[in-house]
Amino acid sequence: MLTAVAWPYANGPRHIGHVSGFGVPSDVFSRYRRMVGDDVLMVSGTDEHGTPIQVQADAEGLTPRQLADKYNRVIVEDLHGLGLSYDLFTRTTTSNHYEVVQQLFLALHRNGYVFTRKAMGAISPSTGRTLPDRYVEGTCPICGYEHARGDQCDNCGNQLDPADLKNPRSKINGETPLFVETEHFFLDLPAFAESLGSWLSTRTDWRPNVLKFSANLAADLKPRAITRDLDWGVPIPLDGWRDQPMKRLYVWFDAVIGYLSASVEWARRGPDPDAWKKWWTDPAAQAYYFMGKDNIVFHSVIWPALLLGQNGAGDKGGTPGAFGTLNLPDEIVSSEFLTMSGSKFSTSRGTVIYVTDFLRDFGPDALRYFISVAGPENQDTDFTWDEFVRRTNFELANEWGNLVNRSISMAHKNVGAIPKPTAPTDADAELLAASRAGFDTVGALLARNRFKQASGEAMRIVTLANRYLSDQEPWKRKDDPDRRDTILHTALQVVQDANTLLTPFLPHAAQQVHEALGGSGVWAAQPSVEIVPELGEGPEYPVLTGDYAGEQATWASTPIEVGRPLEKPTPIFTKLDPKLGETGPEWAPIAP
Ligand code: MF3
Ligand code: ZN
Repeated sequence: MLTAVAWPYANGPRHIGHVSGFGVPSDVFSRYRRMVGDDVLMVSGTDEHGTPIQVQADAEGLTPRQLADKYNRVIVEDLHGLGLSYDLFTRTTTSNHYEVVQQLFLALHRNGYVFTRKAMGAISPSTGRTLPDRYVEGTCPICGYEHARGDQCDNCGNQLDPADLKNPRSKINGETPLFVETEHFFLDLPAFAESLGSWLSTRTDWRPNVLKFSANLAADLKPRAITRDLDWGVPIPLDGWRDQPMKRLYVWFDAVIGYLSASVEWARRGPDPDAWKKWWTDPAAQAYYFMGKDNIVFHSVIWPALLLGQNGAGDKGGTPGAFGTLNLPDEIVSSEFLTMSGSKFSTSRGTVIYVTDFLRDFGPDALRYFISVAGPENQDTDFTWDEFVRRTNFELANEWGNLVNRSISMAHKNVGAIPKPTAPTDADAELLAASRAGFDTVGALLARNRFKQASGEAMRIVTLANRYLSDQEPWKRKDDPDRRDTILHTALQVVQDANTLLTPFLPHAAQQVHEALGGSGVWAAQPSVEIVPELGEGPEYPVLTGDYAGEQATWASTPIEVGRPLEKPTPIFTKLDPKLGETGPEWAPIAP
């Protein structure tokens, strides 16, 4: 299973909107897949080219390279803190990435799927510099939406050209752009009409929003420019182009190829440099891609077209490039936007909740849980402190934390170890059956990326267990220690099961619960930051990676061991001050 996670731009720290789109869903999924025994390769990195980087570098008075270095480090820390279990989280400014991108371009070129054409490009009249597509805003020529961007309309999902916009203006300073002639490489998307169309028609199980955006684009394929007038990016690997200082491959062209280059880098850093092939050239391997909805068409249409072209499998045929015949995406898992008071989280609007601040004050699992149960899985969703406090206090602390705490405390106090069960009653059997059934129900939901339902189902078992304890009242069974021990054993077995079911969502807490149940060693593995040397020329950089094969968590009910000593537990989740729900923290206060 390849888990391909959208590459965050290295243009600032990540906020909780970003990680609700690509981060938490992909990690919950990957952890679940590893627990069922799949061989997961989870890759991504920072997206460091193009105008998003250039524009922020200008704003901070840094070079694009300095800016990318700065935020690559910050983002690696953000994602590490959240416990996102990447096999490799790298960056796009590595020589390995440049090589892979250029190879892919050459295969497309050789197979005849790219061509040059003169086009009109936007420049800023005041600076004379190229105005990136994303920074031209205007009215969509297709649906009339007034805030369409030069590259894409977020309302109808169509890919646009800045020159198509009505009433174009610069998002940087509001001025009307000038359009000047410039020569670019184009991806011949119409040459994929058949091949892409028939492949898309087999994708019936994609989420409706993904199908809608893809169908819109596929219905009317136009050539797309894949180079830009810019000096920051991957050079075009052809004579006459390579050395042109102001021509580079488009950031989206190089970024999507990152999925392949990161897999290759991961393999080159291990014992077998060809190990990436298992996820890319074996037709039985599956590839799941995770992203926010503004990234859909790049993954559902453009990236498949690039792959078909390099495979020589577009409408014009051809032969596979240097990497052989590569797998297309199986699933595109996209999230809607996490908003705060109705506006898309955006650094420019000032209402931002940064991951670092959040982790410092509330820890990773409360955020992972919130995003899983209440995140923007199917629709734009407003984040509120009030709901965050309620979910944390009532669900994590009162329901789950309390179940763990009281069952282990009672067993510790009365027996000092995991008690021995004797004659089980119907109530015991019923509860155990419910928690065992969770492996199928929660598992089936996780396999289909239904995170809300999956976490809700796991929490339902926790609620059943709390109700069981209230009904059975083990604390009143002093005169019948056998019955008391049977109840406690049952409760602890359900704690073990529920902890397993919750591990993909709450991996840090799961490790603590594992230890509180007397377990040792690694239950749920966490990523680590390593500073690695470049594979070719270049400075060292931090990557996220991890040893996940050794973790003990597997997707099954593991019997608890009678007689295993238990210590007095410490609470797993601390309750938040309810006032936080009214005021917000001081670093992200709720506006009065
Ligand atoms: N950097 C892009 C964004 O934040 C996402 C790139 S995903 C990849 O919107 F496909 F390019 F990898
Ligand atoms: Zn539109």
